[in-house]
Amino acid sequence: MDSSITPPENIILIGFMGCGKTTVARELHQRLGYPLVDMDHTIEVQAGKSITQIFAEDGEPVFREMEATLLMSLMDPDAPHRIISTGGGVVVRADNRALLRNMGYVVWLDAPTSVIIEHTRKTRSRPLLLTDKPEERIAQLMAERRSLYQETAHLRIDTSELDSSELATGILESARYFFAQHP
Ligand code: S3P
Repeated sequence: MDSSITPPENIILIGFMGCGKTTVARELHQRLGYPLVDMDHTIEVQAGKSITQIFAEDGEPVFREMEATLLMSLMDPDAPHRIISTGGGVVVRADNRALLRNMGYVVWLDAPTSVIIEHTRKTRSRPLLLTDKPEERIAQLMAERRSLYQETAHLRIDTSELDSSELATGILESARYFFAQHP
């Protein structure tokens, strides 16, 4: 990379469904004033329909394509300071993982499977969990993805014992430290 080009300083939240990415992203957005991009929400606006509808009508591969295209568009030298909340499956593609690492500080919000089951129990907005046995699906996806979150993130935080304010404080402190080391 040309040393005269400043690397982007986005703060990017990754992690499984129900780990609190959206809530923590809002808290970071309020505290820092950086624009907030909630990728799922942006995809819904672009497609003019819900994630559930996209999965049902177009299929998961179409959703993954939209997700990858949106991610690429966020690697924008004119907008290097954003809070980006990703969908839980963004790490499945190797290209996305490589891109995320170059877009800023990547924080993995993690939680035990039992907590994820509890957090995702009441909503029906996650097509991958609309099965007879969502607990088994969660455990299976988690097993597939854990190493992918691990290799993508600069920081992992277990969210289960912390509220969104505490999480935001920790992320901001560590992000400042990270960006100071990677000017
Ligand atoms: C998905 C997670 C969802 C959404 C889509 C697929 C996944 O986002 O992108 O339903 O593959 O884990 P959240 O993690 O925000 O629920």
